[in-house]
Amino acid sequence: MDYYITLSPGLEKISKNEIEFFGGKIKEVRENRGRIFFSGDLEIIPKINYLSRTVERLNILLHREEIPNISLEDVYDRVYNIDWTEWVKEEQSFAIRPLRAGEHSFTSIDIGRVAGEALIKSYQKDKNVRLKVNLDEPDVIVRVEVIFDELIVGIDTTGDVALDKRGYRVFNHPAHLNATIASSLIYLSEWKDDEVLLDPMCGSGTIPIEGALMKRNIPIGKFRENKYGFKFIDIFGYELLDKIKKEIAENKNIYKIIGLDRNQKYLDGAKENAKNAEVLDTINFICGDATKLHERFDSVDVIIANPPYGIRMGNKRVVKKLYNEFLSSVKKIMHGSSRLIVITAEDRMFRDAIIKNNFEVKDEFNVMFGGLMTRVFYLTL
Ligand SMILES: C[S@@+](CC[C@H](N)C(=O)[O-])C[C@H]1O[C@@H](n2cnc3c(N)ncnc32)[C@H](O)[C@@H]1O
Repeated sequence: MDYYITLSPGLEKISKNEIEFFGGKIKEVRENRGRIFFSGDLEIIPKINYLSRTVERLNILLHREEIPNISLEDVYDRVYNIDWTEWVKEEQSFAIRPLRAGEHSFTSIDIGRVAGEALIKSYQKDKNVRLKVNLDEPDVIVRVEVIFDELIVGIDTTGDVALDKRGYRVFNHPAHLNATIASSLIYLSEWKDDEVLLDPMCGSGTIPIEGALMKRNIPIGKFRENKYGFKFIDIFGYELLDKIKKEIAENKNIYKIIGLDRNQKYLDGAKENAKNAEVLDTINFICGDATKLHERFDSVDVIIANPPYGIRMGNKRVVKKLYNEFLSSVKKIMHGSSRLIVITAEDRMFRDAIIKNNFEVKDEFNVMFGGLMTRVFYLTL
């Protein structure tokens, strides 16, 4: 079967590794477009939805085609020609979730309307049954995307609540990091079991919590299940999910994870989140200053930071000073194989601080985070 996942654009190389780990055979990686096409068996559906840490949504791919000057008639045509009786049962309801990017003479609402009509007519032709539309709580979610000249039609196996909504968050930081991005940055760092992981501006604790879940092998689906009524579309039953759950071996090993922030209110929230994620005992939360790390720590192996940008929080002059003082302090606690990974939307200001503090840039790339372009820097001494 063919599938495609969606993820935060820019992090494709990390999600690609995860897909391959779950047994998917990569067909195409859309760099910086947040999409990966691949094939795999049915088991990959519960695997990705229950275990993946970097994917936002998994769809079964039904149709994909480049159509120059694509029109609404083309959309109707391609949707009508799919055999929907394989995917929707007579008594089930469905909803089209449309998406459009690029210049077109129609809107995404038009796509939804036309694709919905085509699906209903196609089903009537094959089964003589008129399917019900339910936009609020559909049994089957159909994704119809027109991205520039390309049409993609798929069945959403994840549901309306994407996988970055983990279900453990009870405290909402005003600028919290997306959990799939946090996990991707941890994978990027190649943090080893015996190494210290420090998030020096941890806010509500997303990075340390994702790190603890990863090392303790706690599946992200565990908390989604309770909170969002985790379910797949009804095409294979739940035996496969049960099988996957039985194979998971969580551990209670000790890992060296530190979350630091100067704001006690955020730290209290981070602890609430960690408690809800069952990893409070794995993380050491400390109230402190990221510009004075050298006064507290001798040596840290992996530092992952999501500092304030000045767009969402604080003002630019303060941010510039913070970036400089943070890099000057963090440098003193790094050793030859330490890695520092930073995600920020203030990339120019951060680059100035990198140059001033003489860091080696091993890698850097853009990541789209909720409509905001951010840059990830991978630094060593
Ligand atoms: C963008 S937020 C981090 C959000 C976090 N990644 C999360 O998911 O909730 C930046 C954080 O940096 C903290 N911060 C700013 N300056 C700091 C400093 N000098 N020392 C420690 N923390 C600082 C703020 O309190 C804020 O919580």
